[in-house]
Amino acid sequence: MSTLITNIAELMTQDLEHRVLKDAAVVIEGERISWIGAAADAPAADNAVDAGGRAMLPGWVDSHTHLLFAGDRTAEFEARMAGEAYAAGGIAVTMNATRATSDFDLTRLAMGRVAEAVWQGTTFLETKTGYGLDIEHEARSARIASTVADQVTYLGAHLVPAGQDPDEYTELVCGPMLDAVRPYVQWADVFCEEGAFTAEQSRKVLAACREAGLGLRVHGNQLGEGPGVQLAVDMGAASVDHVNYLADQDVKALAASWSGWDPATGTGERGTVATCLPACDLSTRQPLAPARGLLDAGVQVALASNCNPGTSYTSSMAFCVTTAVLQMHLSVHEAVRAATYGGALALHRETGRDADGERAVGSIAVGHRADLHLLNAPSATHLAYRPGMPLTYAVWRAGNRER
Ligand code: NIG
Repeated sequence: MSTLITNIAELMTQDLEHRVLKDAAVVIEGERISWIGAAADAPAADNAVDAGGRAMLPGWVDSHTHLLFAGDRTAEFEARMAGEAYAAGGIAVTMNATRATSDFDLTRLAMGRVAEAVWQGTTFLETKTGYGLDIEHEARSARIASTVADQVTYLGAHLVPAGQDPDEYTELVCGPMLDAVRPYVQWADVFCEEGAFTAEQSRKVLAACREAGLGLRVHGNQLGEGPGVQLAVDMGAASVDHVNYLADQDVKALAASWSGWDPATGTGERGTVATCLPACDLSTRQPLAPARGLLDAGVQVALASNCNPGTSYTSSMAFCVTTAVLQMHLSVHEAVRAATYGGALALHRETGRDADGERAVGSIAVGHRADLHLLNAPSATHLAYRPGMPLTYAVWRAGNRER
């Protein structure tokens, strides 16, 4: 079954040539994009959809979320707005609420959050464990996450639960807890920060997870300058997320990690993506991550929602893009790219792997997964020009119309 979507005023492909087509059309066949080009040249298809002169982008790729949780942290948020600083310890509040929730309710909550994200144009989404923090509850979170998200990250190293010895807990994360989550996850992450895990503990966790065949990511440099970025680059992590406080050598290390990669062809060895989380920065009153400087230095940047109850209770990628343009000085094209192609790069899904049936996401090109986001606006510029407006008009995810 094929579908022609025509009368697209602006098609922002975010492909390797960064093409933006005017008066364009797209053809979907099954789950894949089979044709793109000028509307006047479009082939016939089984169905036709008139985009009505609207703008189309790739669906958002949200490469950093924490959706497996119960409870909320309104009181902590209010205290922060009254001047208190964010501290990692709040994670324990969510851990207690999450452990006390049934499988059924945790699944229902996570599914609801994914549905909210898709409704706003997100078509590919990573989520993490990290609110279970013992073998049973981390394994449960990983299992449920694998049923609701496209990719799952093991974050047993989110916080050392109260009363536990940090080194003993690190051993648990590297051993039996890792074994228990392993069937459900593709990635491992560690919160390398004051009040969470030291550089040494973080390195141990990453090494064990790499040994187990997982890709790596790091929460780093969120609350102050620290070892997270250097560690991520050293360990060949796919991304380092937050990156609010960067020393010159951090930026240099991130840029150097991309020296073996050719952005024009999307080939070579990927480096470490710097994932910026502007909604979190605002909600924790941290300085916005220096996305402009990172891009100028040659670093590949992603934008993600970091949806979680502690630091960023939103899955709105549009909000992140708007903030990136208005406050972080990215162009609209750069911000949309970071929220689509950049996220895909951070999740190693920017390119297709036909052998195992996985298709590229985060850009609109023939053969890629048909993940499309139609805005109720004639151009993507409206995402920044009309902040906060409900601009998602239609969403296709793997060729299925979701909205
Ligand atoms: O990415 N920084 C660590 N983890 C989450 C917040 C977790 C929480 O406070 O519940 C984040 O911001």
